[in-house]
Amino acid sequence: MNATIFPEKKHYPVLLNEIISIITPQYGGTFIDCTFGQGGYTKKILEYPKTKVIALDRDIESIKASLNVEKNFGKRFFFKNKKFSHLNELELNNENIKAIIFDLGYSYTQIKDTTKGLSFNSYGDLNMKMGLNKFSAKDVIHKLNKSELEKIFKFFGDEKDSKKIASKIVKIREIKKIDTQGLVKIIEASKKKNYKIHVATKIFQSLRVFVNKEISELIFGLINATKILKPGGIIVVVTFHSLEDKIVKFFFRSLSEKKSISRYMPKTDEEDNLFKLGNKKPIVPSNKELKTNAPSRSAKLRFATKEKNIHKFEKEILEKFNYLLEIENLSRKL
Ligand SMILES: C[S@@+](CC[C@H](N)C(=O)[O-])C[C@H]1O[C@@H](n2cnc3c(N)ncnc32)[C@H](O)[C@@H]1O
Repeated sequence: MNATIFPEKKHYPVLLNEIISIITPQYGGTFIDCTFGQGGYTKKILEYPKTKVIALDRDIESIKASLNVEKNFGKRFFFKNKKFSHLNELELNNENIKAIIFDLGYSYTQIKDTTKGLSFNSYGDLNMKMGLNKFSAKDVIHKLNKSELEKIFKFFGDEKDSKKIASKIVKIREIKKIDTQGLVKIIEASKKKNYKIHVATKIFQSLRVFVNKEISELIFGLINATKILKPGGIIVVVTFHSLEDKIVKFFFRSLSEKKSISRYMPKTDEEDNLFKLGNKKPIVPSNKELKTNAPSRSAKLRFATKEKNIHKFEKEILEKFNYLLEIENLSRKL
């Protein structure tokens, strides 16, 4: 067994220097930190005078860290326990937002919180709720049918033994309840050994994505971030797995590469680029960061600057990832 090891005791913000050089808080401005966590990015931004941060996090535990930041920075900081897909509900009073930052995934503290059961090293009931959830991994494992589980494992985890694992789950749950370690055992019994990663990594990823509706969170987070930004505003996203990165890459690219239909025809809204791409290849952690911050190893940063106000830009992304949103919608049964 090859368990993921997190030697650190606290969460270290990933790609922090790279983010700061993109969003340039030294010139002041208002920023939205969509994934406050322990406040790593927020605190760094607020160290620069003339900055303001509006921070969100779905995990109620983040409120504690937010109170400390509030103590130090007062009115320059505002926190809401809210999911970032609801960014558009913030009362911004026509505020000019300089950058909106998403640092997806989980903080080290969340992974280590055994009550959340996010990791395959946890014991007890299956949970995986990050905060503001309607159902848990226990509901998913015990209530969805074989083909529904298979879809989740395959499309949200890229697990090639999805069918085998889903069949075993459905058989075993007839006899007994499946808890976190019970699920790990089922996966271990269904797969060949000698994996570079822990055999349960992909199934656990797929369940976390499903339980937390991470696909629609990301898609609507990006759409609403784009809507509230004015031209010149930047969106920065740090992803931790290929599914997230695929969505962010497509979103930025498809909205920054529109070609003119004909140079003799009058230009329409649809031919304008909504974004200017910040980077073609994702920015990844330096060797120095990899040495000191092991959980950063799968991080990829992409960013883009909004160029134009274009309405109805979301159709393409919703169509492209509709198959994932439909799988996510299996949760309506829960
Ligand atoms: C990787 S951590 C962020 C760490 C933070 N940048 C720091 O330096 O402390 C991700 C955080 O995003 C939060 N989160 C994940 N998905 C979210 C969503 N859809 N809406 C709001 N918060 C979310 C998690 O609860 C977690 O605290």
